[in-house]
Amino acid sequence: MPAPYLASSLITQDQIQDRIVEIAAEIERDSPGDGLIHLVCVLKGGFMFLADLVRAMGDRVTLDFMAVSSYGKNTKTSGEVRLLKDLDQSIEGRDVVIVEDIVDTGLTLTYLQEILRARAPGRLRTACLLSKPTRRLVNVQVDYVGFDIDDQFVVGYGLDYAEQYRNLPYIAMLDDGGA
Ligand code: IMP
Repeated sequence: MPAPYLASSLITQDQIQDRIVEIAAEIERDSPGDGLIHLVCVLKGGFMFLADLVRAMGDRVTLDFMAVSSYGKNTKTSGEVRLLKDLDQSIEGRDVVIVEDIVDTGLTLTYLQEILRARAPGRLRTACLLSKPTRRLVNVQVDYVGFDIDDQFVVGYGLDYAEQYRNLPYIAMLDDGGA
């Protein structure tokens, strides 16, 4: 298969930044009082979203990271993911927000929510930069969605194709050049 090339930008840097400011405000507004809001970034894809989100929030933020990788295609329908790096801190009793790059079928996020819920957080919400609603196989709760997109493969802003393009500051489509 020929290497795909980047097609036009789907969501610009400015659109992303504007939406992130709104999401940051919504998350803070939905956590009244002065308690801490603990953001859990799902690596690798969530790293850029998290970095911009926390900079748009005030000093009530704490954060932690977990790294997951999907199993191969055969087991993907189970949504089971391999935990490559667990959280450093306990989330028991905390006001937790999962920060994910994209929700597609919803299986990965469902699995993540299940393992985090088992750790008895005080509250568990989820923020995803992108969502492909037409691809959903399970009805997963996503409290904050940056942008709904069509069923197309996108890269950039943390999202990769074979580990490439994560560093783009915008979201782009990939094209195989009609091959
Ligand atoms: P789900 O379990 O089907 O919801 O898959 C979620 C994961 O699939 C995301 O965390 C991404 O790693 C990956 N993914 C889904 N769609 C895309 C895409 O368009 N570009 C890059 N990665 C994607």
